[in-house]
Amino acid sequence: MTDQPTLTDGVVTLRPFRDDDVAAAVAGHDDVIAHWFGWPVDGVTPERMRAAIADWRASYGDDHSQVAFAIEVDGHVAGSVDVRRREPGVGELSWALYRGERGRGVATRAVRILIDYALSETGQGGLGYSRVEAKVEPGNEASLRVATRAGLRREGVRRIEPGTGDRPETTSYVVLARLVSDPPITEPEGFRALLNSFLPRKRAISQLLVRDREGRVLICNLTYKRDWDLPGGVVEVGESPRLAAMREVSEELGLDLEADRLLLTDWLPPWSGWDDAVCLVFDGGVHEAAIADRVRMQAREIRSVEFAAVDQIRERCADFTARRIDSALANLATGGGPAYVESGRRT
Ligand SMILES: CC(C)(COP(=O)(O)OP(=O)(O)OC[C@H]1O[C@@H](n2cnc3c(N)ncnc32)[C@H](O)[C@@H]1OP(=O)(O)O)[C@@H](O)C(=O)NCCC(=O)NCCS
Repeated sequence: MTDQPTLTDGVVTLRPFRDDDVAAAVAGHDDVIAHWFGWPVDGVTPERMRAAIADWRASYGDDHSQVAFAIEVDGHVAGSVDVRRREPGVGELSWALYRGERGRGVATRAVRILIDYALSETGQGGLGYSRVEAKVEPGNEASLRVATRAGLRREGVRRIEPGTGDRPETTSYVVLARLVSDPPITEPEGFRALLNSFLPRKRAISQLLVRDREGRVLICNLTYKRDWDLPGGVVEVGESPRLAAMREVSEELGLDLEADRLLLTDWLPPWSGWDDAVCLVFDGGVHEAAIADRVRMQAREIRSVEFAAVDQIRERCADFTARRIDSALANLATGGGPAYVESGRRT
């Protein structure tokens, strides 16, 4: 069995803990660390720290199931990082900098060194993991920064039953991970994938404004809500919004209609358990009223379809849908209506 290695990037060094680190480690554990790890503030005593160091030594010697390093910078110990085996090939990372050591980029460097070590093959002195991951509470902004700066991609949010996490307040963790096959973040592809993993996404809905020769608008009575709406639906990942409107109308109504120019973008604020969304309304053209009779409705989603005049629209649709249809019609007639509204209202 080889000794636990010492690793460095030239500025920050990761080395095994020594017994003479105990005093600095105990003094450095402050309320910030206690808070995010869910420990009592005075939970780290010299006895416990000595016992922890002995445990880390033992688990390195046994099977590397947990490998902990002291972070050394400018000749003194500034914090700790560790990686624990969660399942074969998968290591969970954690990190902490001691009081007075934060805000100088040390954590980011330390976590990068640890990731390289954990993902390197055992033959090259690493742990041979195929995946390393971290779970960070959404409010722990410093740690989320450290994780992404160190190249962990954001994968999603794991919900936690209140009272069962590390801290009573914990209700979710952001899960971040890096696979051994992920391209380095110094390469454009790797950097883009990293950014792409945590930049916000917004839901998009595409609808068609279809009229008959009397200027009435085609609206649908949906099975999953009481009020009527324009035909259309949610844009799939990677799908063109214009094609999505045509696809939805074809799937739901059996009508093959062309989506022409974009008439309106309506931002729908978060509502009743839904995240916010942008709703794009495309011109679906003017058609014979008889197309409503040709409709082959998808029974799962659509109860009925009709051309409706403005007063019927106001009666049957939710107020924000009626406002959206009004705005789209105003834009259609003169091109003088708003191109962008929020919940159907001009901004
Ligand atoms: C997380 C922790 C190690 C970060 O230490 P640090 O020395 O500030 O980290 P770095 O200097 O490498 O900074 C990393 C980034 O976080 C940012 N950051 C630091 N503190 C921040 C804060 N309170 N709020 C928002 N961002 C913060 C820094 O600006 C930096 O971003 P940048 O590179 O874009 O400028 C430290 O705050 C800590 O010990 N926290 C308690 C332990 C913990 O939460 N561990 C996580 C368990 S998985």
